[in-house]
Amino acid sequence: MAIPPGAIIPGTLPDFSIYVAAPQGRYILWALEGNNVSPEQLARLSESETKEVFVNLDEHFKYEQYLEANLGNILENPSTPDDQKADIFSRVSTNVVKDAFETSFGLGTMGDAAVRRTRQLIEYSLNFIKESKSINALAKMIGHDYQTYEHATKVLWFTVAFLQQAPGVLDQVVPDYQVLDETGKTEMLRQCGVGALLHDIGKAFIPQEILTKNGPLDEVEWEIMKRHPLSGLAMLIDTDMPMFVKKAVLHHHEDFQGGGYPMKLEGTHINPLARVLRIVDVFDAMTSRRPYKEPTPPMKAVRIMIGAQEDHAASGDQEQDDRDLGMRKCFDRDLLQKFIVFLGSIRLEG
Ligand SMILES: [Fe+2]
Repeated sequence: MAIPPGAIIPGTLPDFSIYVAAPQGRYILWALEGNNVSPEQLARLSESETKEVFVNLDEHFKYEQYLEANLGNILENPSTPDDQKADIFSRVSTNVVKDAFETSFGLGTMGDAAVRRTRQLIEYSLNFIKESKSINALAKMIGHDYQTYEHATKVLWFTVAFLQQAPGVLDQVVPDYQVLDETGKTEMLRQCGVGALLHDIGKAFIPQEILTKNGPLDEVEWEIMKRHPLSGLAMLIDTDMPMFVKKAVLHHHEDFQGGGYPMKLEGTHINPLARVLRIVDVFDAMTSRRPYKEPTPPMKAVRIMIGAQEDHAASGDQEQDDRDLGMRKCFDRDLLQKFIVFLGSIRLEG
């Protein structure tokens, strides 16, 4: 399988072999013992503009483990192009979330190992996510197919980047944010990232046929779906995550003007991080491709979220129009405005 050369950090590779492509569909062994790869060898590879090298498919587990363990080094390597870093980050993050879902389903709670891996992922990737240029790599993921694990990664990325850029939002989200020292502030941003990545962890208990249903849910399915914020809280309750993160998971489907679930809270009774997640979650869901719908272009998604009339009149589908019109009740308008300003700083298409 193809891997980006940016994944290779000399001195850190375990014992999988790396190959380069040769004419006539052949592969030539490039490094047998990964730790013997020298920076000069890597420089020659990048001079030849090689975009991918290869790992044996039966060694892909070793490769995934290597990526996760060395993510910090890889993302901090200045010679690795951002799009390669973004791909590697998404790949590791998707794996971590997938494993968290799968192992938690068996345990009924989020296990220590999954909590540790999630924290480490965010610790390793926080600086990369915070960098403004990484946001452009994120923009390229908009419009992809909607998949629960990739969605979680994008919600993490958008949320941290937004909190980092939007003035005053972290003060609302984290109690006493201003009195914390730099280490404390970074830790709080990391905790927000954990909440963003795990906001849907309660979906681990929802049957696959409901999660992946190719169309709208019926009444019973919808009732089952609406349990996921509470299941998510139950899974996190015994971890040492801060209370505001647990509340954010519980409240992330509450609507600012009421009528959301599971508790039908309103306004500032809704946890502030949950109000951010509500916006990011809907934005990413709307701009992703589903089996039954095309992705909504980002700027159109924003207009629908604000409740701009012209887009509702244009659809010609009454049911869709009613749903869209209902959307304006969902969001904290002040936060939504700040999120739109933030989106303006990203190179978006459409
Ligand atoms: Fe959710």
